[in-house]
Amino acid sequence: MALRDVLKMGDPRLLEPARPVADFASLELTQLLVDMHDTMRALDGAGLAAPQIGVGLQVVIFGVSANPRYPDAEEVPYTVLINPQLTPLSDAMEAGWEGCLSVPGMRGLVPRHTDLRYRGFDPAGQPIDRSVSGFHARVVQHEVDHLHGILYPMRIRDLRDFGFTDTLFPGQNLQDD
Ligand code: NI
Repeated sequence: MALRDVLKMGDPRLLEPARPVADFASLELTQLLVDMHDTMRALDGAGLAAPQIGVGLQVVIFGVSANPRYPDAEEVPYTVLINPQLTPLSDAMEAGWEGCLSVPGMRGLVPRHTDLRYRGFDPAGQPIDRSVSGFHARVVQHEVDHLHGILYPMRIRDLRDFGFTDTLFPGQNLQDD
């Protein structure tokens, strides 16, 4: 188990574009994926991008499992996505509340494409090609934004829709994600 520190908003490394992965079989990539998985799970996050632990590579992980506390939360399969490319499948956008491990304790209302195709590669270099919608599409867009140096507060349309989680949602005991 290797836990890594998650960079917080204000660190310039979070604003840099990430480089594509060129070598899929490397020990460095394997170790990076273990560290990212362990770090995301320890912090109870829904996703994590490599730049958040200071590694400037196009690697994101995400996944949300069924949680009896939140029976309405949509499940998203655990996925490692490398060198991703996103294509919106319609003009539809929807606003939803997001948090981020790099912006702890806060939530903001962010518009995202409702319907999305994403492509990329798994850790073995095999292609991934999925068409998704709703929460799954939101999570992917949030994580891939990290690879372009974009943090979700930059996408909030009205900064009145940005605040502290425990004030916006009192008593709900929401985690950072
Ligand atoms: Ni994030």
